[in-house]
Amino acid sequence: MELIKEADVLIAGERILKQFSGLKKDTFIIKNNLEQMADFIREQSLTRKVAVLASGDPGMYGILNFLRKHFTQNELLVIPGISSMQLACAKLCISWHDALLTSTHGRGVEKVVEQIRNHSKVILLTGPEATPAHIARVLIEAGIKDKKAAFCGNLSYPEEVIFRGTLEEVAQQDLISNSVMVISDDEI
Ligand SMILES: C[S@@+](CC[C@H](N)C(=O)[O-])C[C@H]1O[C@@H](n2cnc3c(N)ncnc32)[C@H](O)[C@@H]1O
Repeated sequence: MELIKEADVLIAGERILKQFSGLKKDTFIIKNNLEQMADFIREQSLTRKVAVLASGDPGMYGILNFLRKHFTQNELLVIPGISSMQLACAKLCISWHDALLTSTHGRGVEKVVEQIRNHSKVILLTGPEATPAHIARVLIEAGIKDKKAAFCGNLSYPEEVIFRGTLEEVAQQDLISNSVMVISDDEI
């Protein structure tokens, strides 16, 4: 918060920027315009302090990968955050050091099917095109039926949802795309 207050310009998606609208900072909204964002940072940071805000931890399927392609380590200061994966595991009261961490966000589901088949515990980020219900249906169709599943949607928001069940039960749930899903051989 101190660095955000000190910054002249805030860069983030619309949902995050809304939370800081009271600070009356100049802003740049991220929406399929990452190359422009990099140019904007390059130009603004010559004279002003720029903060890029990310959900969770910027290094966990976040904006850091992109920023490291355009800026050196010395040009960036990374403040760690609590990843949605960590928050989900805390809510479900399970460890995550023994899990395979992966994502379907913007990557499609097929890639994770074999990962899930071959690992006893997988934690994955879902996305608008791959909701927990959709992922559960794809797994069932691929013959993966006996694993236990859970998903945590809209974590830390008033509409937060925590659900545990079989893949069949997850497949019946409403479509909550902003979720972390856990699929395990053991009870969750
Ligand atoms: C681009 S990734 C960013 C992940 C982020 N860097 C992190 O550490 O959580 C976006 C995905 O993170 C997950 N996510 C982000 N915020 C979430 C929340 N509040 N509740 C549940 N999942 C969330 C969802 O799977 C979403 O599709």
